[in-house]
Amino acid sequence: MAGLHSTLPWRKIEEGRSMTSLYRVQLISLLAVMVCLFAIFPFSGSQQVPEFCAYGESECGSSSSKLLIKGGTVVNAHHQEVADVYVEDGIIVSVQPNINVGDDVTVLDATGKYVMPGGIDPHTHLEMEFMGTETIDDFFSGQAAALAGGTTMHIDFVIPVNGSLTAGFEAYKKKAKKSCMDYGFHMAITKWDEIVAREMEIMVQEKGINSFKFFLAYKGSLMIRDELLLEGLKKCKSLGALAMVHAENGDAVAEGQKRMIDLGVTGPEGHALSRPPVLEGEATARAIRLAGFVNVPLYVVHVMSIDAMEEIAKAQKSGQKVVGEPVVSGLVLDDSELWNPDFTIAAKYVMSPPIRKPGHGKALQAALSRGVLQLVGTDHCTFNSTQKALGIDDFRKIPNGVNGIEERMHLVWDTMVEWGQISVTDYVRITSTECARIFNIYPRKGAILAGSDADIIILNPNSSFEITAATHHSRTDTNVYEGRKGKGKVEVTIAGGKVVWDGSALKVAPGSGKYIEMPPFSHLFNGIEKADAAYLSSLRAPVRRLKAAT
Ligand SMILES: *[C@@H]1O[C@H](CO)[C@@H](O)[C@H](O)[C@H]1NC(C)=O
Ligand SMILES: *[C@@H]1O[C@H](CO)[C@@H](O)[C@H](O)[C@H]1NC(C)=O
Ligand SMILES: *[C@@H]1O[C@H](CO)[C@@H](O)[C@H](O)[C@H]1NC(C)=O
Ligand SMILES: [Zn+2]
Ligand SMILES: [Zn+2]
Repeated sequence: MAGLHSTLPWRKIEEGRSMTSLYRVQLISLLAVMVCLFAIFPFSGSQQVPEFCAYGESECGSSSSKLLIKGGTVVNAHHQEVADVYVEDGIIVSVQPNINVGDDVTVLDATGKYVMPGGIDPHTHLEMEFMGTETIDDFFSGQAAALAGGTTMHIDFVIPVNGSLTAGFEAYKKKAKKSCMDYGFHMAITKWDEIVAREMEIMVQEKGINSFKFFLAYKGSLMIRDELLLEGLKKCKSLGALAMVHAENGDAVAEGQKRMIDLGVTGPEGHALSRPPVLEGEATARAIRLAGFVNVPLYVVHVMSIDAMEEIAKAQKSGQKVVGEPVVSGLVLDDSELWNPDFTIAAKYVMSPPIRKPGHGKALQAALSRGVLQLVGTDHCTFNSTQKALGIDDFRKIPNGVNGIEERMHLVWDTMVEWGQISVTDYVRITSTECARIFNIYPRKGAILAGSDADIIILNPNSSFEITAATHHSRTDTNVYEGRKGKGKVEVTIAGGKVVWDGSALKVAPGSGKYIEMPPFSHLFNGIEKADAAYLSSLRAPVRRLKAAT
C-alpha cells in the first residue's frame, strides 16, 4: 500500500509541499484529499467516508448514473428558461419543466440558481516542459482544480518532441492518461519540413486535432519566421484546421530584453518593460494580414493589449474571420505587482505576452462584451515559487505563466455578469459554447440540450467566492488572484454525468476523463471556397498578349 500511495497524484502534492506549508493546509483541503483517495480506492476505508458525501449514499463512490436537476434556470448561449434537466449514463436525456422520476434517481435542487454548460478552457499547458522546468500541474491536479472551479473540459497544447508531431502526440496521450475530465488537444508547430506537413495531415485526419499554434515569439526555441507561418497557414487551409498564433515580435523582444539588461534591469519588471504592447500589436497585425492574404481564418491566443485588440477589431470590420481570445489574467489584473520589491510576489505575474498597465484589462472586457473578442481562456501554465526563482537574477529565466484554470469561471462571472457588462446567456457563450463551436464539438459540448454530454454546473448568484492559495486545488503555492472576492459561486460541477464537486469536496478519479476528437472544417471555413473563386475571377489575369515578333 505504501508503494501505491506514493504514486497517488494527491500524495505527491503533500510531498511537494514543505512541512511548514503543510501545516497551512486547511481542513477543507484535507477533506477533499480524503474523498479523493476514496474515489481512487473505492474498496479501502469506505467506512469513514460517507459523511463527506453531500448527495446521498448512492453518490458515494458508487456510480449513480441517473440525475435530475430540478427547478433551476437552464441557460444556453441562445436561450434561458426555468426547467428540469434529466441525465442518464453521462448524457442529457431531457430538458423541460416538471420532469417526474423514480426513486433510483439522485435529485439536485437548483431553485433560484443557474444551470449552465460546464466551462471549456481553450488554452492550458498541463505538464509542459518549458524554460528548463515543467509546469507543476499535471493532467490530474490541473483538471481537479478546473472541476472545482466549474470547468469540465480544456484544450491543451501538444508540444512536438524534437520537431516530431507524432512523438509529441504520443507523449501527451501518455501524460493525459490520468485525466479526470474530458480534454482535447491543439498542436504547436515549431519547425517546417515535408515530414511536419505530412504529420499535420495525420493529426487532422486520424488523431482528432483541428488546430495548430504558431509562435511568433520565443526566439531560439519555439519561434517561427514568416516563411514558415505562410506554409503553415496554407496547410491549415487545405486541412480545414484552425491556425492559432502567439503574437509578439520575437526578434524585437530579444532586443528589448538586451536593452533592459544593459540598463541593469534584471528583476521581473524587466519582463514587462522588454516586451511592450507595440510588439504584440505588430505581430498581431502581421499574422492577421498574412492570414488575410492566404484567406484562412485566424485565432489569436491570449490577447493582452489594446494594441492587439484593435488590430483584431479592424480586421473583423473589413470582413476577415479573426477570433480573439483574452485570458482571465489579462482581463482582471494589471502589471503593478511586477514592481513589487518581493521577488516571489513579482515573479508570479510573469507571463507572455505580459500583463499590461491599468486600462488594457478594462478595454479587453469591453471588447469581450461587444463581441470583438469571443471566448475566454486562461493560459494556465503554472510554476511554483521555487521554479519561478530560477530567474531570481535574470527575468529572462523566470518560467513564464500564471494560474487560472480554477478561477476563470468565477472571475468572468463576477467581472462581466455581476458588474453588468454581459447577460447570463453571453456568459455561457464566452466560457463554453463559443469554444465548442470554434473547435467543432458543439452541441456535444457547450450546451444543455437533449443528447449533449452531461457536463453541467450549478451556479448560485447569491453566494460569494474567495480565492487563496491556501484552499485552491492547483499544486502551486501561489495564486495571482490571491485575496480576490466576488459574487457567484459554482456549487455543483457535474462531469460526464457524475457530481464531481459539491462546493467543498472533489470526488474525482484518474482515468475517468475522455479524449475528445475535434473534426476539421468548423463553421469558420464556410464560404472560403466561394471567396477564393471570387478572388480568382477578380484578377483579370493572365492577360493574353500578342507575342512580339523577333
Ligand atoms: C515546487 O515544486 C518542486 C518540484 O515538484 C519542489 O521540489 C519544490 O519544493 C516546490 N516548491 C514549493 C515552494 O512548493
Ligand atoms: C437569489 O436572490 C434572488 C433575489 O433576491 C432570489 O430571487 C433567488 O431566489 C435567490 N437564489 C437563491 C438560490 O437563494
Ligand atoms: C533530436 O533530433 C536530432 C537530429 O535529428 C538528434 O540528434 C537528437 O538525438 C534528437 N533528440 C531527441 C531528444 O530525440
Ligand atoms: Zn503563448
Ligand atoms: Zn499558452
